[in-house]
Amino acid sequence: MHAKQRILTGDRTTGKLHLGHYVGSLQNRVALQNQYETFILLADVQALTTHFSEPGLITQSIYDVAIDNLSAGLNPDAVCFVQQSQVPAIAELTVFYSMLVSVNALRHNPTIKTEAKQYGFRELSYGFLGYPVSQAADITFCKADLVPVGEDQLPHLELSRRLVRRFREQYGADFLHVPQPLLSRTPRLAGLDGSGKMGKSLGNAVYLSDDAQTVTGKVRSAVTDTNRIALSDKGNPEVCQAYRYHRVFDPEESETIRCMCQNASIGCVACKARLADMLNALLMPMREKRARYENNLPRVKEIIMEGTRRANSIGNETISQVKAAMGLVL
Ligand code: TRP
Repeated sequence: MHAKQRILTGDRTTGKLHLGHYVGSLQNRVALQNQYETFILLADVQALTTHFSEPGLITQSIYDVAIDNLSAGLNPDAVCFVQQSQVPAIAELTVFYSMLVSVNALRHNPTIKTEAKQYGFRELSYGFLGYPVSQAADITFCKADLVPVGEDQLPHLELSRRLVRRFREQYGADFLHVPQPLLSRTPRLAGLDGSGKMGKSLGNAVYLSDDAQTVTGKVRSAVTDTNRIALSDKGNPEVCQAYRYHRVFDPEESETIRCMCQNASIGCVACKARLADMLNALLMPMREKRARYENNLPRVKEIIMEGTRRANSIGNETISQVKAAMGLVL
């Protein structure tokens, strides 16, 4: 057993992170980092399942995602950043686990189905269909106890738990921990245009790396109550994206905004200006940290390599135990 319980969570390195990532997971990681030994996976192998033809984007995103996490407040002295492709134990475990799961079970994974549709895949590659198996390897190479995730990841967590249980039963191996999901309570943040969840593909994302002017511009374009035309019209906050953001980012203040909108004592322009100010105030300290890291990429690389080194020392030990249990050691 390790002294503190371990957390592992991570992001695919397919692009910069946005406000939806912040409220849905980064904020939570920051809050948990002192209580748990934390591993943040830079999931570059999983990124290949959809972006294998873009090596330049992958490299850039490894840095971007690490810097997004660091700027959000993760402490590089306490948290282990792990570059997935550089941990052989993850690749090896993936192969071993792949014997314990049926292709049919993978085909029925609801998140895989949703993503396949989203990406317009008519045929699934072996790697894409199997990435939840690789995710089980991500989680178990370091014997993580808890995995903070959003709801879409629960099917993957369920598979990880099943694989570990099967492995333990099959090989009498109690050194692997059955991981628990730590479900994020915040619902997915919708885009300012109200078109669905915030995301790069929909072009509706406010990036953590956006400057103040960009954020203000994006907020200005938010969809509000379309029936409210004149300033004197009373608004309906329930159909307004700007109001939803006020609610998520400043629940107390949002009560005032709601009343003012309903009795037409604040207009949409002023309401959005307040929202933009609030978001910029939230992002300001992140921008300062970001500037420091962006001006010192060798330091970021060192943080990633140091974390990955530690991950490998843990992973190598796990893989030795696994191979011994499976009868692979002469
Ligand atoms: N699939 C996760 C996502 O799309 C990223 C991820 C990869 C992950 N490996 C993980 C999350 C292990 C938690 C644990 O967001």
